[in-house]
Amino acid sequence: MAKNTLSFVCQNCGAAYNRWQGKCESCGEWNTLAEEDATGNVPVSIRSKRKGRTFALESLSGKTQDAPRLSSGMTELDRVTGGGFVRGSVLLVGGDPGIGKSTLLTQATSLMARAGHRIVYISGEEAVAQVRLRAERLGLSDAPVQLAAETSVEDIVSTLSEGAVPRLIVIDSIQTMWTDTVESAPGTVTQVRASAQALIRFAKKTGAAIILVGHVTKDGQIAGPRVVEHMVDAVLSFEGEGSQQFRILRAVKNRFGPTDEIGVFEMTGLGLREVTNPSELFLSERDLGTPGTAVFAGIEGTRPVLVELQALVAPTSLGTPRRAVVGWDPSRLSMVLAVLEAHCGVKLSGHDVYLNVAGGLRIHEPAADLAAAAALVSSLVNAQLPTDAVYFGEISLSGVVRPVAQTPARLKEAAKLGFQRAVLPESARGEPAGDAGLSLNAINSLTTLVAEIAARGSRRGDSSAPAEKNATPARFRRGEG
Ligand code: TYD
Ligand code: MG
Repeated sequence: MAKNTLSFVCQNCGAAYNRWQGKCESCGEWNTLAEEDATGNVPVSIRSKRKGRTFALESLSGKTQDAPRLSSGMTELDRVTGGGFVRGSVLLVGGDPGIGKSTLLTQATSLMARAGHRIVYISGEEAVAQVRLRAERLGLSDAPVQLAAETSVEDIVSTLSEGAVPRLIVIDSIQTMWTDTVESAPGTVTQVRASAQALIRFAKKTGAAIILVGHVTKDGQIAGPRVVEHMVDAVLSFEGEGSQQFRILRAVKNRFGPTDEIGVFEMTGLGLREVTNPSELFLSERDLGTPGTAVFAGIEGTRPVLVELQALVAPTSLGTPRRAVVGWDPSRLSMVLAVLEAHCGVKLSGHDVYLNVAGGLRIHEPAADLAAAAALVSSLVNAQLPTDAVYFGEISLSGVVRPVAQTPARLKEAAKLGFQRAVLPESARGEPAGDAGLSLNAINSLTTLVAEIAARGSRRGDSSAPAEKNATPARFRRGEG
């Protein structure tokens, strides 16, 4: 008979230790270890008494029904899930508290319930009255969603086993669920894992789709949904800047669809509004006529997205200049800066550099290199870039501008939004994109781009505007001194 073993489990990553210690050696987080009963999720009594049952073995060639999907009624949500919720699948929606997870799921479940499906919404965080209040505010009170405020997984499973199998069950949130099979407190990794396991088993057995909501907290007090990520079929992350109204839903993992699609929403007083054309939104607050901004023609999944990159290059008073970047990979910025220094004679070691992607978007594509470089040089020489131009292209370590995928889609989107020209890699010239109607400036090396922007700077310096007198190429090399 195994005795109850107490151990210390990291609430961030789930690693177990015999003794308490300040730092988790597995994930490096501090003060995340909590004492838990770690005997596992299946009680010994069940394990030893259970008799093995026989099951049928299948052949590979058998006819399997194509995963039938349930559309959420929201195009942006369906885009991220890969076309709707798959029967029997479990999906985790993660995000900071207050970002709008409950709002999103209230809206989606209401639409599905209105379409005639049996949809159950279990709230472990809010009372029924609170959920009703939200639905009322969203104008969705009439939707036949079945609602309950419950936290016991056993009770939920037995309740839902009766009657018709629900098409979709929302569990808001997994951190509030607890199960009798383990003794740890609700919210601990062991409880979260055991509860998720029980719900996943229910989904696979009945064919109901389940959405688990998970909070991501930094301090490790509540177990992050990290441990659940491996168990579920798909993980969606709901992101956004606190100060901005844009919300981006991104697939981090998806067994039934792509992981590079994003869904864009706007939080309004009446709930989340789907943004079908994100480029218009990201460019809506463009500051026309300021040096240091360039429009990047990017691709998110299958959809082209135009977004503004903003750079600020300013002389530094620090020994080690600052490099700060929001919405882009910092190591990518370092690389672009190094190439500018090494191959284009642009000295930036005496300057602080800040780069920001407008609208709270996070860019993962290397194709943003060229737009970032253009914005940086434009800020350094204080020369405004043409407001009707888009930029895209990957920069290699040798300073060559390399081709990127999906050139026609990028150009078409730019033309649609009224842009007149595109600065792009030389090798993309041959692509059948001429019909987009843009004038193409194909460049082979980053040096060409830098020279062109510097020329704009010096032209402006010669103009009559006295304030811009010092925007000459001399400024361009100020970092040398
Ligand atoms: P909520 O969905 O409760 O967040 P989560 O479940 O991720 O914790 O959203 C909370 C925020 O959304 C809150 O700050 C208020 C805001 N909100 C609106 O701006 N408009 C609305 O119509 C609703 C319902 C919420
Ligand atoms: Mg919530």
